[in-house]
Amino acid sequence: MARVAIVTGGTRGIGEAISVGLKNAGYKVAATYAGNDARAHAFAEKTGIAVYKWDVADLDQCQAGVAKVAADLGPVEILVNNAGITRDATMRKMARSGWDEVMDTNLGGCFNMAKAVWDGMLERGFGRVVNIGSINGQAGQYGQVNYAAAKSGIHGFTKALAQEGAAKGVTVNAIAPGYIDTDMVAAVPPNVLEKIVARIPVGRLGKAHEIARGVLFLVADDAGFVTGSTMSINGGQHMY
Ligand code: CAA
Repeated sequence: MARVAIVTGGTRGIGEAISVGLKNAGYKVAATYAGNDARAHAFAEKTGIAVYKWDVADLDQCQAGVAKVAADLGPVEILVNNAGITRDATMRKMARSGWDEVMDTNLGGCFNMAKAVWDGMLERGFGRVVNIGSINGQAGQYGQVNYAAAKSGIHGFTKALAQEGAAKGVTVNAIAPGYIDTDMVAAVPPNVLEKIVARIPVGRLGKAHEIARGVLFLVADDAGFVTGSTMSINGGQHMY
């Protein structure tokens, strides 16, 4: 039986590539999204992947959403916590709301989604959780105290939860992408982005499918000895 995977923020950017990569590898995939209906429907039509709308920052919505996916596709055995937002601003200009939104979505979303699938994974004795962190959670980034704190938190969350799942067949790992060619990175001012790309040894932005490659490795049945790890996929920009 094909295993069931949920990819949060799975209809665009890195999440889209992960959803498609998992589907092509034979998994049954549910891709969640928060707001962009047009993009999600176009994605569903193009890929045949089921899409579900809920806000990962809301625990009740996550629990109801996971129950719906389980009813439609079967018990959720793989969770990819990919949903994330930016509200970049220097500390001087950052409003408390910009801090809260990023923490609630990027880090709170990981808790909420893991909470909704965790007991089932432990009971069934199998699970794969992959959390998408960031190079900026490892190294920090000017104008991103909120995002860097949330992503850094994801790396701590991963290591702690991995210890709780290890003896039960549930692995928890993180991927720390560098700068990937997505809408999120396209929103960085061009003069700033140019300087960032100049510091990437590989000499270019990453591609979303290069992150999906890492996810496919970590969710595989025979990756059971890999847990609590962080895989950096960043073109050599930060060697951690
Ligand atoms: N280091 C040092 N100084 C910097 C700097 C840096 N990296 N970036 C900007 N500055 C300086 C500028 O030179 C400027 O200095 P002066 O006032 O002396 O000229 C000052 O900071 C203000 O810069 P801006 O004019 O850019 O200020 P702003 O308020 O308009 O914007 C910002 C600030 C929002 C942080 C903007 O610079 C920005 O968007 N930077 C990009 C942040 C970034 O990399 N985000 C990543 C998004 S992608 C992502 O997050 C995915 C992932 O996981 C990798």
